[in-house]
Amino acid sequence: MKILVTGGTGYIGSHTVVELQQKGYDVVIIDDLSNSTKDVIYSIEKITGILPEFHQFDLCDEKLTKEFFDQNKDITGVIHFAAYKAVGESVEQPLKYYNNNIVSLLNILKWMNEVQIKNFVFSSSCTVYGQPDILPVDESSPVKTPLSPYGHTKQICEDIIQNTVTIFGSRSILLRYFNPIGAHESALIGELPNGTPNNLVPFITQTAIGKREHLRVFGNDYNTPDGTCIRDYIHVVDIAKAHITALERMQSNKTKSDCEVFNLGTGNGFTVLEVIRAFEKVSGEKLKYKIVDRRPGDIEKVWANTDLANKVLGWKAEKNLDEMMLSSWNWEKYLKVKNK
Ligand code: UD1
Repeated sequence: MKILVTGGTGYIGSHTVVELQQKGYDVVIIDDLSNSTKDVIYSIEKITGILPEFHQFDLCDEKLTKEFFDQNKDITGVIHFAAYKAVGESVEQPLKYYNNNIVSLLNILKWMNEVQIKNFVFSSSCTVYGQPDILPVDESSPVKTPLSPYGHTKQICEDIIQNTVTIFGSRSILLRYFNPIGAHESALIGELPNGTPNNLVPFITQTAIGKREHLRVFGNDYNTPDGTCIRDYIHVVDIAKAHITALERMQSNKTKSDCEVFNLGTGNGFTVLEVIRAFEKVSGEKLKYKIVDRRPGDIEKVWANTDLANKVLGWKAEKNLDEMMLSSWNWEKYLKVKNK
């Protein structure tokens, strides 16, 4: 069975390609390499022994998208990761985000429908919940006013999919990720932030390896046990596996509605300081950090209610925080050797 993975050379995309190939799927990647490099396909080949088919183009280009789907009518499912994801940049350049993330989705949905490809998995985010009133947050929690154009594009894309899936006679699963971290156990693929990382874990590992002076911990006066924010960190390989479970759920007609939504988290919340401690424990490194002011737009605490994903989707996160931090650290060390 042939599966299209858009954004397949990116962080979560590349881990999903590996899991798909290891389960026997034929994978085709589309990626414009705007936030990744072509090397990733060779790293995937090193892990799985199979070089994935790769097409480099921008899915906002309707002509190229049409040509691709016309030539690949045998695809049975699409997993759509390709999108811009830097929250700060989206505030500075909102139209870039609205245009890229929405137009690419519209093109894919249109041409999937034209060639009658029926199964679609969408990469969404817990950002759609904002600061939930009830924790852990479940899928019925209201979608809140987005704090950034990036978050808004996730909400708009979810709505577009919900509003088109039935009329197209197709099926979709929207996966709302909490905080994906970690890297493949081979340390051959992982997160490759462009420039200074915005996210916590790449900043921790880059600080420990000596690329950054110190980590800034954004605020310790939140209403949490140690005053730092709480998030539900989840291993990227667990996230990747959920996409295959979702795809197989649609392919075996197990879905209960045309558009299902699942949280992908572990169900456990950790503070920033707990994450730092876990990193120090597994790496044996002492991390330099300073407490600074809160980061505007950060929410205080969020973690997932995973009942629906566990019981209905039949997927459960397996890796714990120590395993996540160790794999992130191994990946950072691999990059250091590779870039020497
Ligand atoms: C961010 C995005 C979210 C996106 C997710 C993808 C924001 C506001 N939200 O989530 O929309 O879906 O990434 O992974 O950017 N922290 C520090 N120092 C740092 C970096 C982070 O203390 O240098 C803290 C933050 O205050 C936060 C936690 O670490 O409490 C996690 O931050 P981050 O990794 O950026 O993820 P989110 O902000 O949760």
